[in-house]
Amino acid sequence: MSKKALVVFFSHAGENYSVGNIKVGNTKIVADYISELTGADQFEIVTHKYDGMSYKPLCDLAQEEQYADARPEFEGVIVEGQKSKVESPKQSDFEQYDVIFVGGPVWWGTWPQVMFTFFDTYDLNGKTLYPFTTHEGSGLGSCVSDLKKAYPHADVKKGFSMYGHEVRSNRAKVENWIKGLGL
Ligand SMILES: Cc1cc2nc3c(=O)[nH]c(=O)nc-3n(C[C@H](O)[C@H](O)[C@H](O)COP(=O)(O)O)c2cc1C
Repeated sequence: MSKKALVVFFSHAGENYSVGNIKVGNTKIVADYISELTGADQFEIVTHKYDGMSYKPLCDLAQEEQYADARPEFEGVIVEGQKSKVESPKQSDFEQYDVIFVGGPVWWGTWPQVMFTFFDTYDLNGKTLYPFTTHEGSGLGSCVSDLKKAYPHADVKKGFSMYGHEVRSNRAKVENWIKGLGL
């Protein structure tokens, strides 16, 4: 890959639909595949708001947050090749990346609200963005259009989605998508 890439993602470990109680979230698994395949650095959007919550209460809370258009706080570090870390990165730390993969689970048809907090915090206009989701039926939902709304001056490419319950057994699907991008 000639361009420097970053994967920005949110993923919720714990009890989830269809996969039981998982130690590593579905979207994180896809994010890790992307980094393995492209050498992309990572920024994981982390919030402790949902730690230990079971599926049903989390669904209710996520829906309330969406109705309220909430902006839950997040933290995170840029991890470069599994080594150096940029804690609480500044806007300028994102300038080195031309290509950014933006991924998350679909929650009530779009990104979890904490991802909108990220979108409000960091300006990714002018960059090439590849949206991806994991889901249990909604596909991309309105994630692509919501990403375009957040960053009207970014080049938002066609999105990629896969079922959360298939990420562990279908790395090839991610591989085919990445190969097809010609990066
Ligand atoms: C709060 C919540 C809301 C969800 N809403 C949807 C939805 O609207 N459409 C859908 O297809 N899946 C929905 N799901 C399922 C997740 O998108 C799916 O399990 C995803 O793979 C989880 O990714 P993660 O493990 O990275 O968090 C929802 C799951 C949760 C916890």
